[in-house]
Amino acid sequence: MVYQIYPRSFQDSNGDGIGDLNGITKHLDYLQKLGVNVIWLSPHYDSPNADNGYDIRDYRKVMREFGTMADFDRMLAAIKARHMRLIIDLVVNHTSDEHHWFVESRLSKGNPYRDYYIWRDGRPNPDDPSHPLPPNNYPSYFSGSAWQYDPPTQQFYLHLFAVKQPDLNWDNPRVRDDVFALMRFWLDKGVDGFRMDVIPLISKQPGLPDLTPEQLKDPSRLWANGPRRDEYLQQMNREALSKYDVMTVGEAIGITLEEETKIINSQRHELNMVFNFDAVRVNRGDGYTARNWTLPELKTIYDNHARVLGKDDWDTVFLSNHDNPRLVSNYGDDSTPEFRVRSAKLIATMLLTLRGTPFLYQGDELGMTNYPFTRYDQFDDIEVKNAYKEKVQTGKMPESQFVAEAHRFGRDNSRTPMQWSAAPNAGFTTAAAKPWLAVNPNYKTINAAEEVANPNSIYRYAQRAVALHHAHTAFVYGDYKDLDPTNTQVFAYTRSLDPSQHFLVVLNFGEKPVEYKLPEGIKVGKLLLGNLRGATEPGGSTLHLEGWEARVYEY
Ligand code: NOJ
Repeated sequence: MVYQIYPRSFQDSNGDGIGDLNGITKHLDYLQKLGVNVIWLSPHYDSPNADNGYDIRDYRKVMREFGTMADFDRMLAAIKARHMRLIIDLVVNHTSDEHHWFVESRLSKGNPYRDYYIWRDGRPNPDDPSHPLPPNNYPSYFSGSAWQYDPPTQQFYLHLFAVKQPDLNWDNPRVRDDVFALMRFWLDKGVDGFRMDVIPLISKQPGLPDLTPEQLKDPSRLWANGPRRDEYLQQMNREALSKYDVMTVGEAIGITLEEETKIINSQRHELNMVFNFDAVRVNRGDGYTARNWTLPELKTIYDNHARVLGKDDWDTVFLSNHDNPRLVSNYGDDSTPEFRVRSAKLIATMLLTLRGTPFLYQGDELGMTNYPFTRYDQFDDIEVKNAYKEKVQTGKMPESQFVAEAHRFGRDNSRTPMQWSAAPNAGFTTAAAKPWLAVNPNYKTINAAEEVANPNSIYRYAQRAVALHHAHTAFVYGDYKDLDPTNTQVFAYTRSLDPSQHFLVVLNFGEKPVEYKLPEGIKVGKLLLGNLRGATEPGGSTLHLEGWEARVYEY
């Protein structure tokens, strides 16, 4: 089980309002007791923080606000002492514009680092010849064009993300060598692998032609399937990964499930796993808009995973991270305290019993919720700020609609500080400090101190769910079968590993109680885990489930 830490928001140990590495070290027992095997640490490197560390200035330095390299070494040793492992975030599709490679690169066309990035002449601008147009029509993920004009050399550079995140030119073998060297630097220290940021985007389309109107609807599809992607990942595997005992997980933006097997099939020696976003995106339309979805659609996604991914492809299971809303607000029901607790437990049950390595994001184990944003100025995220400029400031969208949508899906929802206790600032930082992003006002009731002590809490339930996952190899290697794909309220599936391990998971995905008749031939046995009074229901083939009730049986 992997637990993602967003260091900026986890625990501040020195009263500057920003989380840090010593803060993480302080809470390792908490994570170990939850049953965490691996910690994924979001970027901890030196950065000007245009995108909270996803813009790296120096890959071999720790971000000043997060501490020192000695703090990192102490944290790593303390993780290993608890038999956990650490994977770090590898962000190498782009760097910060303050990275010395880029500082050099933009100086002159003849600079030895010029070709580390993607520079092009602009297109003539008939209306204003002194202001050339971008070289092609690529949009940036963070609004506007993906090209930035740079006056010193009068060329544009490519940035698929923020202006301060220029894309590296992976076609340059020196870039690849330098990236593999920095990977070895951290692997030699003993880190156990990487989560790889937008890794499929590293191979660009030859000649960078304009996107067609069709391609413009979802540019990631093209960007993620560049011709040399697999060659580069195989080289990375050969020159860095294969020399160590590591685990890797790539962010598979723009890749279909079928295409994903190219990257994760163990015979191909690229990455171990990827994050496929089909499930996370099932309720999302464009931008921050919602999409109506049904439970059978979600089931179809998991069924596809079981069908398409074979024995040589290892899967991940996750529904949250630092780019998505809070798990319980997004897929559960946070409208009442009772349903929040039940639905958070139900989702934990699902994530820990589906097929694949489960990932939880910090605070999921507490059922932390979206922040009650009401105003634009409460947001910090560059994605929100740029979208605001593009949509609201141009009059394309009323401010109130923008705030409502960003409240629903904006990334800051999951970036508010961890709620450790009912103390001021939720114990995330000292009482006197101002946290870098406001603490969710519900911290007095939703916090780790309360939940660790309360046997009925989400944390204590998650602990049992993780223990169950660890106790039976069927949850790791077992087959997955959806018992009732068209049922719009109940998600019922089995995990089985012959000859003796047969488990049944039944989830009532909604607030309405339901009577559920199991398919022919299936009768429940011992109840292993349940988020409600299920234990008192006699065994049999008809179950009476309360709203958001989850049960795991032997059968
Ligand atoms: C994906 C990361 O998860 C996200 O937080 C970041 O903004 C972009 N990649 C750019 O690095």
